[in-house]
Amino acid sequence: MTRVLDDFSTGAGIEFSAYPRFQAFMSQLSHAKHRQGLILHFLPRVDDGRMMARLVKGIRVCDLGCGQGIALHLMAQHFPASVFVGIDNDASAIDEARQTTADLGLKNLTFQVKDAAAMEIDSDVSEKFDYITAFDAVHDQSHPLAALRGVRHMLAQEGLFSMVDIDAASHPAQNMDHPMGPFLYTVSLMHCMPVGLSDQGRGLGMMWGREQAVSLLEQAGFSHIQVLEMAHDPCNVHYLCHR
Ligand SMILES: C[S@@+](CC[C@H](N)C(=O)[O-])C[C@H]1O[C@@H](n2cnc3c(N)ncnc32)[C@H](O)[C@@H]1O
Repeated sequence: MTRVLDDFSTGAGIEFSAYPRFQAFMSQLSHAKHRQGLILHFLPRVDDGRMMARLVKGIRVCDLGCGQGIALHLMAQHFPASVFVGIDNDASAIDEARQTTADLGLKNLTFQVKDAAAMEIDSDVSEKFDYITAFDAVHDQSHPLAALRGVRHMLAQEGLFSMVDIDAASHPAQNMDHPMGPFLYTVSLMHCMPVGLSDQGRGLGMMWGREQAVSLLEQAGFSHIQVLEMAHDPCNVHYLCHR
């Protein structure tokens, strides 16, 4: 708390590791959300059902900012013909993700500790994935534009990117009627914005909103961006992007 208060005057940001309970907490939230919605509601609607068919047949999938790998464990179990890779720069979260993968006996899922902002210069991953997901994992990156350019770099020519993030408008005045506005801005000020400011970062915060999200996706070079609301998850919005 003291670090957060101090940061209001310096704006220097706070590193992720200063929130030692964050990953376990996030994992609990994601578990509840993804268990209910990912396989049953979200994936069947991606690209009008075509993504589900491709996952069943077998494709290469990456989840960026995967945390403890909740979404990946579910997908790897449901789509044994597909190959999954999780990327996160938090080594302790990846340790946890690997342990669960071993416990579940999954052979089609691996993890890498990497900085999303550095993927665009990583030749090993160039055009390597058919589908990339980022669940709640772009707004608190220090360098989100570089991370999004990295996603394009990693996508195969016909690849798709699903970015799922908090639904809001970019201008605070347009969020006056947001049913969870005060709560989400508070969480953002306490965690997302400080971590996003670290490493001389952008500090978008979780209420960065649709306008900024679409603008960053365009700047990263994505051509066809759909902004899709999700009946099963009204708090978030799905940006479906073609490479
Ligand atoms: C809000 S959590 C979401 C985790 C997971 N996608 C989920 O839904 O449970 C954001 C994740 O992004 C990761 N992250 C933040 N900055 C990153 C970076 N530069 N490179 C890779 N991962 C990053 C964090 O470590 C964290 O696991």
